[in-house]
Amino acid sequence: MPAMAIVGLQWGDEGKGKITDYLSEIADCVVRFQGGANAGHTVDLGRKTLKFHQIPSCALHKGVTAVIANGVALDPDELIREMRTLREKGFPVTKLAVSNRAHLVMPYHKELDGLEEAFKGAGAVGTTRKGIGPCYADKASRIGFRAGDLLDVASLTERVETAIRFKKAYASALNGALQSDVQGIMKKLHHWSGVLSSHITDTSSLVNGFISRGKSVIFEGAHGLMLDIDHGNYPFVTSSNIMTGNVYAGSGLNPQVRVKTLGILKAYATRVGAGPFPTELDDEVGEHLALKGMEIGTTTGRKRRCGWLDLFAARYAVQLSGARQVAITKLDVLSGLEKLRVATGYTYGGKRLKDYPPSVGVLNGVVPVYREFRGWSDQLDEDITRWSELPDAAKRYISFIEDFLGVEAKMISVGPSRKKTIIRGKLAP
Ligand code: GDP
Ligand code: IMO
Ligand code: MG
Repeated sequence: MPAMAIVGLQWGDEGKGKITDYLSEIADCVVRFQGGANAGHTVDLGRKTLKFHQIPSCALHKGVTAVIANGVALDPDELIREMRTLREKGFPVTKLAVSNRAHLVMPYHKELDGLEEAFKGAGAVGTTRKGIGPCYADKASRIGFRAGDLLDVASLTERVETAIRFKKAYASALNGALQSDVQGIMKKLHHWSGVLSSHITDTSSLVNGFISRGKSVIFEGAHGLMLDIDHGNYPFVTSSNIMTGNVYAGSGLNPQVRVKTLGILKAYATRVGAGPFPTELDDEVGEHLALKGMEIGTTTGRKRRCGWLDLFAARYAVQLSGARQVAITKLDVLSGLEKLRVATGYTYGGKRLKDYPPSVGVLNGVVPVYREFRGWSDQLDEDITRWSELPDAAKRYISFIEDFLGVEAKMISVGPSRKKTIIRGKLAP
């Protein structure tokens, strides 16, 4: 397994953190290549729960190098806090490398995230308010700051003055008043520099070095493909590419290196924030999924919207991710439901759609075509570790998913902890 990408196939929160931690056992390096502190990845240790936002979910494995690559929108305040929390919980991150090319989330990006959302009113995206959109916008506008800039803060005054002038004007156009000022930002930059400089390096060289020495590298995706800025439900998306192709741009990996994808698919669907969700359930089944699945946002504490598994959307995500192998998570949450449904297509205006629609207007008007399955009552909360121990109805549900998506479910997760993981054969190298 020289290079593997872990990619969410839905709207995020599929259980990428659990699976990344599980596979980190056999990795030498784990890389975050997009997103930022908007991600929240959980690793459940029974006694303790660790939540990862920017640091890859491999901190339990002391020998593994954790990389925050150039494609990440890096929030130094959140990173410093995350490092402290992990240290206090007994898991100091000893091998952490931060790309000198990663763009910095500045305090004014978070202010502007809130102001933009308020300005949009009913059309708000429901962002995590972590400043992700404004940070990537500045990257594209070429007025951003990068982690490498922290190595020479004294030279940044003029650029900071320009940025603050820009942002003041923008904030007032959004009916707001910017709190950030030049002095405050310079102070922050000096602080970040003091704490983080020793971690800042050329992570592209580092990652390619691991690969050329035959080591195993995992690229831990954040969010889920339906939130991809190009291929997701635009504009109700995040501001980065989530698809496997972005591993190369987001980390500087040599494109000659073949990256295998492990898609992560929750056995039902959830979504946080606004945007279309054709299989959403506002009934007692939705309530069952929310309660049993403990569907509360890891980063924002918001309630996640819940619904039936949408295989029409997932098939599109599988194609974009290149996944031939998937991990199906949270199967245990379906226990106790008499009947299960999965969407296998959509109709719009009475006609069956061939392709997953790009338009939110269409998505808001589609009617899912469902296939029904018998559920199972067994709770799966005993220590089920083998495929053969699953109820027949659960096996039929998974086999249908495999056939429909053209993938192999190599891992099946039946609880938050590591031991509640069924392995069905090795991941293909
Ligand atoms: P991520 O963003 O994809 O890493 O997912 P999150 O960590 O935000 O959300 C997944 C939640 O489900 C976390 O609280 C996990 O501990 C939990 N979880 C992961 N796998 C399973 C599972 O198989 N069953 C149950 N019941 N919970 C799970
Ligand atoms: P993980 O990695 C679920 C959603 C937000 C919002 C939209 C844009 O834990 O799966 P942003 O702050 O990125 O500008 O918000 O994207 N979103 C997520 N939803 N899980 C995530 O990450 C998400 N990251 C962003 O709720 O709808
Ligand atoms: Mg999450």
